[in-house]
Formats: sequence, structure tokens, C-alpha cells
Amino acid sequence: MLQNYHPNKMTTINQTSKINWEDNTGVLSSIQTLKTSNSTREWENAAITGINKLPPRSWRNYEPDFIRCLNGNWKFNWNPSPVLAPEGFQVPDYSDADWDTIPVPGHWELNGYGRPIYTNIQYPFKPTPPTVPHEDNPTGCYRHEFTVPEEWSGRRIYLSFRGVDCCFYLWINGQYTGFSKVSRCPAEFDITDLVTSGLNLLAVREQRWSDATYLEDQDMWWLSGIFRDVYIYALPEQHIEDFEIKTILDEDYCDAELDISLKLSQPEAAHSVKVSLFDGEKLIYQGAELKFPVNNPEKWTAETPNLYLLNIELSDASGRVIDRIDWQVGFRRVEIKDGQFLVNGQPVLLLGVNRHEFNCRTGRVISETDMLTDIKLMKENNLNAVRTAHYPNNSLWYELCDQYGLYVIDEVDLETHGLMDKLSKDPAWLPAYMDRHKRMLERDKNHACIVIWSMGNESGFGNNFVETSNWLKQRDPSRPVNYYHAGTDACVDIVDLHYPPIEKVLETLENEKCGRPILLEEYAHSMGNSTGNMREYMELFESHPRLIGGFIWDWIDLALHRTSEDGQTWYAFGGDFGDEPNDGKFCMNGMLYPDRKPQPKLLDLKHSFQPFAICIKPNGKISIRNRYSFRNLNEFRVVWQWQEQDRITKKGEFKDISLKPGQTTEIEIPLPPSETASSFLNISICDGEIEVAYEQLMVTPPEVALPEDFISPTGSSKKAIFETTETRAKFDNGILSSYVCDGTEMIIGSPELQLYRAPTLNDRPFLPEWEEAGLADLSTAVLKVSMSDNKLMVEQVIRNAKDIELARVATVWQMDVSGCLVADFDVKISAQAPPLPRCGFALKCPLKFDRFSWFGRGPFETYCDRKLGARFGQWQSTVDEMHEPYPVPQENGNRSDVYCAQLSDKAGSGLKIESDTPFETSVHYYTTADLGKAEHLHELQRRPYIVWNIDLAQAGVGNGSHGPGTLPQYQLTAKRLRHSFIITPL
Ligand code: GAL
Ligand code: MG
Repeated sequence: MLQNYHPNKMTTINQTSKINWEDNTGVLSSIQTLKTSNSTREWENAAITGINKLPPRSWRNYEPDFIRCLNGNWKFNWNPSPVLAPEGFQVPDYSDADWDTIPVPGHWELNGYGRPIYTNIQYPFKPTPPTVPHEDNPTGCYRHEFTVPEEWSGRRIYLSFRGVDCCFYLWINGQYTGFSKVSRCPAEFDITDLVTSGLNLLAVREQRWSDATYLEDQDMWWLSGIFRDVYIYALPEQHIEDFEIKTILDEDYCDAELDISLKLSQPEAAHSVKVSLFDGEKLIYQGAELKFPVNNPEKWTAETPNLYLLNIELSDASGRVIDRIDWQVGFRRVEIKDGQFLVNGQPVLLLGVNRHEFNCRTGRVISETDMLTDIKLMKENNLNAVRTAHYPNNSLWYELCDQYGLYVIDEVDLETHGLMDKLSKDPAWLPAYMDRHKRMLERDKNHACIVIWSMGNESGFGNNFVETSNWLKQRDPSRPVNYYHAGTDACVDIVDLHYPPIEKVLETLENEKCGRPILLEEYAHSMGNSTGNMREYMELFESHPRLIGGFIWDWIDLALHRTSEDGQTWYAFGGDFGDEPNDGKFCMNGMLYPDRKPQPKLLDLKHSFQPFAICIKPNGKISIRNRYSFRNLNEFRVVWQWQEQDRITKKGEFKDISLKPGQTTEIEIPLPPSETASSFLNISICDGEIEVAYEQLMVTPPEVALPEDFISPTGSSKKAIFETTETRAKFDNGILSSYVCDGTEMIIGSPELQLYRAPTLNDRPFLPEWEEAGLADLSTAVLKVSMSDNKLMVEQVIRNAKDIELARVATVWQMDVSGCLVADFDVKISAQAPPLPRCGFALKCPLKFDRFSWFGRGPFETYCDRKLGARFGQWQSTVDEMHEPYPVPQENGNRSDVYCAQLSDKAGSGLKIESDTPFETSVHYYTTADLGKAEHLHELQRRPYIVWNIDLAQAGVGNGSHGPGTLPQYQLTAKRLRHSFIITPL
């Protein structure tokens, strides 16, 4: 049984290497003479992947009495260079009295030592592999006393570091113990012979940079330190060193065989094994067989994360249990067939997201709560997959993904982006590449959630990947292998694309002759206000079976929390720590804000990815297509409602509609009480109380009655006044300059025509055209004003600084007897104008009108290419809340398809604006120019007025910060726009 086990052959240089166990000064002195040597130094030697580290093995549980977590505050000493690190600090009687302490796990740079650095592709220093800077190579020394319980004597004792960035030397009680690289994989040491019962000292000297840095050039913050748990555990001499579980399903994906391999520390010694498998409380197998049939187990999928508890007990010759493993087993099979990705024989669409491990206060130190929040938000928003971009995650993450149901692409801790294929082609680096692959696979092999291995990210291509792919495939034939820069090379089972325009996807489908699946391993670059047209991506996925889905870039804004001297909190990106070089804001591409609050794009995404596609017809016939691969509609409730404005006039629900995956059905909803009264038909599909899918049909658009009884203006066309007993509107040369109602001035200054928005981070592809057209600096001139009967007619022209005409706006103003203003806008956009960001006007209103409500899509921010997840209703908010707090200020807070909006004070006085044609609107304490100028949210200064943007149209947001910009159908290319607005004083 153990013959097929693949012990790690090439990873670590173990005791047989030239380490002098007795003499730890060797290491020290080599570091002390940095400048002289031509380096066999461990940290500038790619051939050394670690010293005395144990071979990687599966994550597992240990008996609670025999494991101790060493997390806590450790003594700490930091220096900018290894040369300055204290000598001899590892010996027990060294005095660390004047040392600080630092939390373990924790990053140095987030605890006051050195600075965080953010770079994307470039290395933080000039790359000269394998050497790294000597003077500027921060070095942290840790000392920590720990207790080895008396009861552990006679057992083997291990020390496990789950993640240390980036390399470290270890001493136990002053004795040199080993050395480790690979930041995001565990380093385990057998310390049995170095410890005694009672107090012991561990000492770690860790460096920020090493040759391994060249392999860890992921687009993220460079943060050092012991950032995952550290623990010691004890096992008897005879124990389970490693185990592997395979679930083999039969041809019909019905019955299974559970195949367990064990690697024992003393395979020759007499022992026995007992295996038990539980379905909940129920024991379904018990025996000594390591391979046994399981009759039709409930299968594991992300939709149905069924797990069975496996318990493996190892007993000694006397029958005493000496080691015991509990593992949650998911029965599933992953395959690629006919270019499709199958789970248990069914095609599955991967609706995924790339996720970095991140917390804005603690960096890559993340808690179980953070993980659970992420999983909950992913599941709630109809994501079913996650890529551990770009390194193996904390082991707990995979346990949770097993448990809650997410398909995982597990990725090797490997990226050499700043050097591209240089190292990937160099055989000298092969051991390091191989080591990283083995460390991932061996640690993670038993998780049902992992369905694809990824060989890393953006490291160019070279033979090293051919070798690692060969190894992965022979070691674990049960999972496909992917890697973006392999392109269509035979070493990958899936062809990845990053940020392709739709044409590129189609072309790849056509050209990939081996029939492999195509995966958008990264797409929809979600930087700031972004992630438009996800519906179009979904349509694309659904119309090409070989297109197996995609992973949005990415999950959470990687911005670090800071507090300014005056107590304001803010989020920092590259450069904000004086870090040079840096890549600025490019780390902020999350669906979540840095504090894990969902951004509106996630709320809208839920609709694009919903598991039931619903199509409502006005006659009350509804078609529902089941997009799940495993679940039936009969597990859900279908709730319907007729809605008039925001009032529900009739509702009901269906249960037990059987609809298998992939099938479509039609249901019929009773008609509303009086057909004309209801405006909307809503359908919700709920899993218990949780809505998983939703659709709304507008049957009758809300009616907006235009006033009819108009009064005539007085004065001249230069100075016109409309006046009723309660209201007076003044126009200076055709421009509204005052609107007094019941003695209150409703506006400040005059409305300003706008063709520009504060660019979103995704407007990038359009910026050159906008700049060329001078959109940021426009001026408006009045060409003509005239009065006739009850109208004031104004013609304005909008020109850029070069005096080029971009638009003409003809406005007809009227006031009705009750004091409402009606403005009829007719905008003609010049042929030479580029696609515009917006077309509308901004009103300034007094600060006291700080409440905002509207009838339109809501409640969250929407744009024309990202709005279908928001439903029509009467929504209430405040000017404060209407501002969407993107850490980098930009256009934000828009609401689409608005028929009526009002800005008012607490008592309800204010202004209401309605239109016969739905409009776009937002309110802020800032002008468009303010939003365009500030680099960070906290730098925005509130204006002494509210800016109310009312747009006839606004462009979509797209994903142009990296990848395709706003799609043509969502650009503002119309050359004529007409809207009538009714402005009513409240
Ligand atoms: C991808 C890369 C990611 C990230 C992204 C841009 O090409 O894999 O790590 O850099 O671009 O945000
Ligand atoms: Mg990269």
C-alpha cells in the first residue's frame, strides 16, 4: 500500500547536507561577511529550498492534549540589514530585556517595523537573481519561550510554522535547527532531540528578501513576518506521518470506493488500523480495510457540500490507540470530457472570484471570522468558486470551502512576473519550482473542494513548468492542471485567458484544436467603480459549453487601514508609506471594500450569476431555467408579487415545482386585481428565507403627469421672472439664478450643464479621447434667450478650451400655477464629440436638504451596464449614504432608471424632480471636479452645499482598468437626448 506513496524526494536538503549541527556559528559568520562571498549562502542559493524541514504532509488534526499553539507576543528585534542583527541572540542566556515584543502571527511592517511596499509586476529592488540587497534587507529576530508538557516525553515533538514571509533560520535552545523558504507553505521541524520537558527557547532569524523573493512576485503588498499560526505537537514514535484519501466513483457516479493510503513512521513495527466512516451520527463502515465500498453516498459538490466523517485509528501491538485522524470526506469526481469541466459527471460552470488573503489591518494575517465572512458573501452572491490567488491559503480556508461548498483552484506559491520566463527556463531553479508544487499538493491533497491545481501565476513559460506539470499529473491524476502562461502547451489541461475581450474568447475557442476547456482565469477587473456587463459574460459562458467560466479579479481591495494625525481613518495604497517603487492604486480591485463591506458591484453580480434564469412575460407567464448542475427547483420556494409603485397588491407562492438542472419550465401567475393598476411583477426564488434569484418586469411604467396650467414670465428675456404667490424663479440671461419657495432659497448658484464625470478607474481607455476633447474644462455660453407666451427659451452651447463646440442645449422653461418649474431639455451632441461620460446638469442645494429619496432602481448604486440586479421601488437614503465610499474618489453613487427623486430636509421641505423619461441621478457634498482631484477619500473637503447631479444619460462603467472598457452598447454615443423635468418645491 505504501509503495505508491510518493515521499518527497527533492525538496529539502536534510541532515545529509553539510550542516554542522554542533556549530551554529557557521551560519552567523557567513551572514556577517556578506560582501565577501560568492555565495553558498542559503538565502541567495536557489538550490537550497530548506534545511532540515520535514517533507510536506497533509493538514490534519492532533489530539488536543498533544498540541500547543505558540501564537502570542514574542520578543522581537528588528534591523534594516542582516549585518546589523544581534549576534548570538539565539542562545538561551542572551538578554532580550531591551527587546520589543511583536504579535505572532503578525507582519513587521504593520507593527511599526519597516514599511509595507506595494508593487505589481516590478520587484521592489533591481532583480539580480539569486542575489538580493544586503544593506537593505530587513531582518527580524524573534525569541520565544515555550513549554513542553511533561506528558509529552517519549513522543516525537514537532514544531510547525504555517507561514513565514520570506525565509528564516531556526534555533531551539541555542541549537541550530534548520532553515526555510516558501512563504505561504508550512515549515515543520522535528525538534524532539532539542527540547526538554518544561521551558524551552525558540529563536528565529527571518529576512525580508532572499532568492525566494524572485519566486514570490505576486501583485500584492510585500509584508514580512511570521504571519500564520505556530504550534508544537507530539506524536508517538509510531504514528501516521501522512495520509491520502481518494473517493473513486463508479461509471454512473453512484457507488463509491473509499481508498485510504497511510504513511506510517514505523511501517515495520506491529500495528493495526481501524477505519470508521460516519454519515452524521450514523456509522456506515467500520473495519480494518483501507479500501472499501460505500453504497451510493451523497456526493460532494459546491451546491451540495455533503461530507462524511472519516476516522482513522492507529493502534500499537497491544491494541492501544496511538494516533487518530478525523477528516471530512467529500465523495466526488472531477473530469474534463469533451472540453467540459465535469463534477460527478455533470458539466459545471465556474462562477468564481480570485481571492487574496487580506485584512486591511493585519495584512495576510486573517481570522476565521474573515474567512467565514468571505465564504458567506461568496455563497450569498451566487459565486461558486474561488482561486487562491496566488498561493496556498491558510489550511482552514479549504476546510471551510469543503464544508460550505466552493470549488477551489489551489495555486502554487510562485510568480516571477518581473523576470517573466527567465527562471522558468533555468534548470537551476527547477528544485525550487518542484518544492513549491510538492508543498502545496501534499498539504492540500485531501480536500474535496480543490478541483484544479494551478502551477502559479505569471511566471512566463519554460521547461520547469513542463516538469512540475508532469509531476503533478503522475502524483495526482484526479485533478486537472492549469497555468495561464503555459498558453496552449500540452502541459495544461485547461487553456486560461486573462481579461480577454469577447472576440479573443471566441477566437481561442475556435483555435484551440485539442478541444480543451477555456477558462477566464482572470477577468472583470473590479477596480473601483467597475464590473459592468457581467450579464454579457454570463451569456457568453452559457452559449459555449467549452467555456467553463471565469474568476473575477478580485475579491477584496488590498488597501491598508491608516489613521491620520487628526484622527481620520483612511485606506492606503502603493506609495502611501513612502514605498518606492510602487504601483499605486492597482491593488484596489475588490468586490469588497478593505473592511469587507460589499461594494454595489457584488450586489448586482448576484443577479447576473443567479442559479435560475427567469423570464417574465406581461401576461403573467414566467419561464424559469435551472442553471444549477445538481439542485432541483423543488427545493426552493417561488414567490410572486404584483407591485404598484412600492405597494404590493397581490402575492403568492409556489412550492415543489420539479425542475431538474438545465431544464426550463413555465408557470403562470394570477393576474393583478385590476390589470392597469399594477406596474411591476416580481418573482423571487428562495432557499428557505434566502433569495437566490430574482426578476422584475415593469408592466406599466409609472405615470408622470406634466403640469398643464402655466403662468407667464415677467421682465425681459435678460431678466425673466416666473412668480406665483409662494414661489419665484429668477432667470439671468436665460439661466436660473434663484428659486424661492415659501421664503426659502432652494438652489445655490445656477444649474450647470455637465458632460464630464470624475473618471472612474475604469474610464482609462476613454481618457485620451476625453482629454483630447477637453471634457474636463468646458465652458457654456448662452447663444439666445427669448420669451413667448408662458415660455422662456434658452439656447446654450458647450465648448472646450480650444473653442470647439461639443453640444448645443435648447431648454424651454415654464412654471405652472402651483409654482412647479418644467424644463424641457433638447441636447444635440456634436458629431466630433467622443463617447461622453455623461450628459446632464448639476444643481446646488442648501445643506439642510440632506435626505434623498427616489423611485427608480435601488437601493444600491447602479449604472446602465450594472443595474439589472437592482429593483424598482421607492427608496430612502441620505446625502451621506448616497456617496459610495470608494477609497479612491471617482464618479460614484449613481442611481439608474429614476422617474422621480427628491431632496429634502427633516420636515420634508425641499425639491422633487420627475421626468417623463427615466434619468440617472446622484447627490454628493462634492462637485465632479472635487471627486476627480482627490487621491484618497479622506482628502475630500465637503462643500457648503449639496451637489445634485441629474443626467439624461450616463455611460456604463465597464472593466477598462485592465481589460475591455465599457461595451459599445453602454457608451454614451447618442447624438440627441430629450427629457422634460418637472421640478416641484415641497
Ligand atoms: C493579473 C495578475 C493579477 C493582478 C491583475 C491586475 O494579470 O494575475 O495578479 O496583477 O493582473 O490587477
Ligand atoms: Mg503579476
